[in-house]
Amino acid sequence: MSGPNTDFDPVEVAAVSPAELEAARDAALAAIAAAPDLEALKAVRSEHAGDRSPLALANREIGALPPQARKEAGQRIGQARGAVNQALAARQAVLEVENEARILVEEAVDVTLPTDRDPVGARHPLTTGAELIADIFVAMGWEVAEGPVIEAEWLNFDALNLGPDHPARTMQDTFWTAPADNHLVLRTHTSPVQARTMLARGVTDEAPIYVVCPGRVFRTDEYDATHSPMFHQVEGLAIDKDISMAHLKGTLDHFAAQMFGDGITTRFRPSYFPFTEPSAEVDLICFVCRGVDSDACRTCRGEGWIEWGGCGIVNPRVLQACGIDSSKYSGFAFGMGIDRTLMFRHGLEDLRTLFEGDVRFTTAFGSEL
Ligand code: DAH
Repeated sequence: MSGPNTDFDPVEVAAVSPAELEAARDAALAAIAAAPDLEALKAVRSEHAGDRSPLALANREIGALPPQARKEAGQRIGQARGAVNQALAARQAVLEVENEARILVEEAVDVTLPTDRDPVGARHPLTTGAELIADIFVAMGWEVAEGPVIEAEWLNFDALNLGPDHPARTMQDTFWTAPADNHLVLRTHTSPVQARTMLARGVTDEAPIYVVCPGRVFRTDEYDATHSPMFHQVEGLAIDKDISMAHLKGTLDHFAAQMFGDGITTRFRPSYFPFTEPSAEVDLICFVCRGVDSDACRTCRGEGWIEWGGCGIVNPRVLQACGIDSSKYSGFAFGMGIDRTLMFRHGLEDLRTLFEGDVRFTTAFGSEL
């Protein structure tokens, strides 16, 4: 800052001349009075009372005045700034009241108005998906069976040829319940419903078994985009005379076509399950590339096929454990993930979206009741 002048220099005091001060003050007052809303007043405040406003600049000049001129100039500038600040505060108060009144009118909610936005509840896509699957089988004359989610260890394992020392038991990542001598597990698959059906119903020439069993299953899995400690499976079991692998293949091809569209078929790859012999993994032909130019396909990662589930001819040991004459009857069984099936069907990338209850996700499936 420049030092005090000893000589009175009219050029340097021009900013604080009474006429200029009055003009600056009047301009400020006029602008304040004309500001139509709070936003405009904010701009007026910065222009007429901010650091670079004429009045602030004048204030800064005081120090540069000859000592004898400072007091009088200081008073005049102080009065002008005071008037402007007062006017700003008064206008601010008026505009705030106006603003509130406007918001009350504009954003008023008439709670008595009738509304057509009355969302109805809807069943979860997993429920409707499981029903769609069940319907496909019911249309072929199958029955639907369900079992408990807390299951006897014997039905979940032993009856299915998974004895206590069977190595495949450890592959099932089981949730056991306490106390251990209850021998109850959270079922690791829907296969115990097969055993329950055979034990409860038996099979005769007049009443063969054709059941489909959808339901919740549990495994000590991580919770991520492709795993969950709770998920859903659908099990199928057919017990009749002379059942062969051909019946199984035809049934699963029909299931695949109904689920994913005409032309979607399955292939079997040799595999092992204790409850079936022979056993196979079921793959679906990739419903995106349909096996044509698969190299670029992101869905099947160039395979042309997608893993869908497991299946096979029911092991005679399972039939015997469940009271069925294995010399007279044979059967096929299969099991697949319902969640996985729905992910394929609807192009879902993250399994968790099915479990997290976000209505924006579920309503995209429609509000079917
Ligand atoms: N229970 C098997 C699993 O959870 C799936 C399965 C495979 C079921 C083959 C079957 C079958 O009925 O025959 O991994």
